Amino acid sequence: MNNLWKSAWVIGGSTGLGAELVKILTAAGIETYVSARDKDRLKVLCGQFSDAKSYPLDITDKAACIRAVDEINKIKNTLPDLIILNAAVYYPMDIENFNALEISDMMNVNFLGIANMFEALLPYRKSRGGNVTIATVTSPSGWRGLPGAIGYGSSKAAVINMMESMKPELDRCGFDLRVVNPGFIKTRLTEKNNFQMPQLMEPNEAAKLTLKGLSTKNFDTSFPNPFLYYLKLLRILPYTLFFRLMKKINQQRNKP
Ligand SMILES: NC(=O)c1ccc[n+]([C@@H]2O[C@H](COP(=O)([O-])OP(=O)(O)OC[C@H]3O[C@@H](n4cnc5c(N)ncnc54)[C@H](OP(=O)(O)O)[C@@H]3O)[C@@H](O)[C@H]2O)c1
Repeated sequence: MNNLWKSAWVIGGSTGLGAELVKILTAAGIETYVSARDKDRLKVLCGQFSDAKSYPLDITDKAACIRAVDEINKIKNTLPDLIILNAAVYYPMDIENFNALEISDMMNVNFLGIANMFEALLPYRKSRGGNVTIATVTSPSGWRGLPGAIGYGSSKAAVINMMESMKPELDRCGFDLRVVNPGFIKTRLTEKNNFQMPQLMEPNEAAKLTLKGLSTKNFDTSFPNPFLYYLKLLRILPYTLFFRLMKKINQQRNKP
């Protein structure tokens, strides 16, 4: 681990990728605040690491996000050096199980929850001397519309787009924005998938690659390769080729 960060805050840090990030950060002696909704799970996780501090938070509650940012800033007299906005929910969705309520839930947590956190963080953008790295964990399903990811992909596309819009302005104000786009990770989120997931990663491996990417100066951290190289190529494919390929993938997904 580099010595870029003395303190961190992982929002959505109680399970899966987030919990592994907390383990690695605290093992490196980095004081780490950990947020999620489930207080009991947070308590158990943070009880294992002396440098982990539990801070329950539901990011769909804007007032609670503002309170959390203000309180953590007050305790430390500054924001943590690294803030990872990792919280999200996921419902696999295709046309057969299209559900506007589930889409609303995904948009609420995955996009509007992140917007709530930014509204809470932005007032501190000029008051901090050094840089705060703020990373959102998004997804390659936000790059182009993929079969089976209706709603989830839209919520991640919205976050990536918002981060791109904000980066140039925030570069000048001490906020260093990043996006992290992992492939498939073995967590409770992907337990819902009933298809073969290429290059499925263990959460610990994904957490290491996340922090390795955040230690560089790159805006985008995407892994694992070569899977993510192929997905990146989809971004530049013309629609005729793109839809031909997606139809094939859809047929594969629907094979009994
Ligand atoms: N797993 C994958 O293959 C994969 C691939 C690409 C991207 N991602 C992204 O990676 C991130 C981590 O996913 P994961 O697979 O590790 O899933 P996970 O195990 O379900 O973790 C999600 C975390 O977010 C928290 N969370 C959910 N809703 C929240 C809310 N309203 N407020 C605060 N915290 C909330 C959860 O805790 P509570 O439920 O207690 O709140 C949990 O700590 C997500 O952003 C996901 O979209 C995952």
